[in-house]
Amino acid sequence: MSPTAPLVLGIDIGGTSLKSAIVNTETGKLTSDVHVVPTPPPATPGQILAVVGEMIDHFSWRGPVGCGFPAIIRRGVTLSAANISPEWIGFDALSALKKLTDQPVQILNDADVAGLAEMAFGSGLQLSDAEAQVVLFLTLGTGIGSALFLKRALLPNTEFGHIEMNGMDAEDLAATVVREQENLSWEAWGARLNQYLQKMEFLLSPSAIIIGGGVSRNPEMFFPYLDLDAKLLPASMGNDAGIVGAAMCIRESLG
Ligand code: BGC
Repeated sequence: MSPTAPLVLGIDIGGTSLKSAIVNTETGKLTSDVHVVPTPPPATPGQILAVVGEMIDHFSWRGPVGCGFPAIIRRGVTLSAANISPEWIGFDALSALKKLTDQPVQILNDADVAGLAEMAFGSGLQLSDAEAQVVLFLTLGTGIGSALFLKRALLPNTEFGHIEMNGMDAEDLAATVVREQENLSWEAWGARLNQYLQKMEFLLSPSAIIIGGGVSRNPEMFFPYLDLDAKLLPASMGNDAGIVGAAMCIRESLG
């Protein structure tokens, strides 16, 4: 396919799978099917870059590529590795991606980019200016990803999934995968999530909290257990947020 602006190949790199699609970054719509490849364990840089190359070939793509990645990322260097190989710590991912693609490319934190997409094209559109003063976007999955917005502008790399709760990393208590692994009822998991969100509310006083990740499809299962002052909204773009946001990050000069 020969690209015309504003089409970008968005790749959402995760601990469980990599998902990609061609995205119209002006409308926030996917213009292709979503191509999904399971993350090869232990998810080293070499293994992930090989899948990125395979995705480019899959779409016969010659154009800009944007990636979301589950780590702290500063100036293209990955600086943490919570659910991926420790080989990523200190790895110059941006240079490796430039070499691999020979195209304009960008890489930012996965939750940051999903939050950008939700703010621009998803639930963020429902917020009034007063409600959008301080928005906390959280994505619940293998871990807890966070993105913080002040008047719709992103403060990148917040990593609020790793705040301490009951002597543990909060994401090890309240991520979606924990509910599945520990076979928790929605009520029991909802109580943990409520404790986490109340802690975040105490620390940040957000005007709105948007909950993303797979569970955002079923807010009726756990929103009844959440007791917060902030306006609470489920994300509306599902898994597409990670892909659309990855494509959008090509225009960001963050991190
Ligand atoms: C990582 C974050 C990431 C989140 C969601 C956390 O374990 O530290 O960087 O955004 O998982 O993938």
